[in-house]
Amino acid sequence: MAGRLRVGLIGAGRIGKGHARTLAAMPEVALAAVADVNADAARALAAEAGAGRWTTEPGEVIADPAVDAVVIASSTDTHAALIVAAAEAGTHVFCEKPVALDLATTDAALAAVATAGIGFQIGFQRRFDPAYAKAKALIASGALGTVETIRDAMRDPAPPPRSYVETSGGLYRDMTIHNFDCVRWLIGAEPELLFAVGSALVDPSLAELGDIDTSVVTMRFPGGALAVIDNSRRSGFGYDVRTEVFGSAGALLIGYREATPLLRLSADGVRTDHVHFFLERFASAYAEELRAFVAAVREGRPPDPGAEAARAALALAYAAEASHAEGRPVDPGRWLEGARV
Ligand SMILES: NC(=O)c1ccc[n+]([C@@H]2O[C@H](COP(=O)([O-])OP(=O)(O)OC[C@H]3O[C@@H](n4cnc5c(N)ncnc54)[C@H](O)[C@@H]3O)[C@@H](O)[C@H]2O)c1
Repeated sequence: MAGRLRVGLIGAGRIGKGHARTLAAMPEVALAAVADVNADAARALAAEAGAGRWTTEPGEVIADPAVDAVVIASSTDTHAALIVAAAEAGTHVFCEKPVALDLATTDAALAAVATAGIGFQIGFQRRFDPAYAKAKALIASGALGTVETIRDAMRDPAPPPRSYVETSGGLYRDMTIHNFDCVRWLIGAEPELLFAVGSALVDPSLAELGDIDTSVVTMRFPGGALAVIDNSRRSGFGYDVRTEVFGSAGALLIGYREATPLLRLSADGVRTDHVHFFLERFASAYAEELRAFVAAVREGRPPDPGAEAARAALALAYAAEASHAEGRPVDPGRWLEGARV
């Protein structure tokens, strides 16, 4: 493609605002429109990012022949229908995770993508974080030898409001989905055994919703590599994302604590600040994933991570739910079916 990619942004909330700023700063992109059912949010973000126009009708943006691609950053329950509409219009899609909260709706939306042959990328931004990307490259180069274990922790600073939890799809589909993608991507395979145990330790009343806020998932991969994912909805001190990759020829520790690279040392002790949450920790990754999407679409390549990754991480969430409910290890193959890394 010679000219600028004309992109419509759908959803002007927390993550949509960041995406608008990234798109607006890209010389190879024309931010054609911002759509949000909340008119004030759409108007304000369009003005701030210098978008061509704003609307409360995302369908208008998708069907606009002057829009080549859409970035879907609206609430999760809107994603699948917007993807299907974009596929029917031949408009390329970048979509925030997840495609949908259930596999049947996900499969229907991804089938529409495949039939239309549009470019599709899912927002697993960790893959674009400099540390995770470097780790993946080192593993692929053989520098770590054979990967034997991965420990992947993710803990939010504080639990979300109950209203969010009620529509989130539960811990595994909402939160652990990032870890499932990360681990299967780093190892480069699908797990053959998965055992999930969870508790409602932060808010015991979550049990009424059938949800949990603390979990450990253990997985075994073909060849014997093992992985452990642990999640909590509450750290109390900030966003805690750390991954350890242990191989036969060395190890990698991914992650950091400080928001500012400053240690204060005094007679009272040693202090540092702490990265608050995902928007700060993954700021560069959110920008890089959109740059990669735009480059792939402009060059006519399939964007990555695409449909298979979007489906597989959700399938592993299903496996975790079944394992947790049944109190025993499960073979995730039943849910993964045709997904590949
Ligand atoms: N990749 C990540 O790390 C990450 C982090 C946070 C959120 N997300 C995902 O991003 C999406 C948005 O999350 P958020 O935290 O920005 O939520 P948010 O509630 O801050 O923003 C959602 C926006 O979507 C708008 N909206 C709702 N229905 C709409 C529709 N039909 N058409 C257009 N706009 C509509 C809302 O008015 C709101 O402005 C969710 O799917 C979430 O899972 C991903």
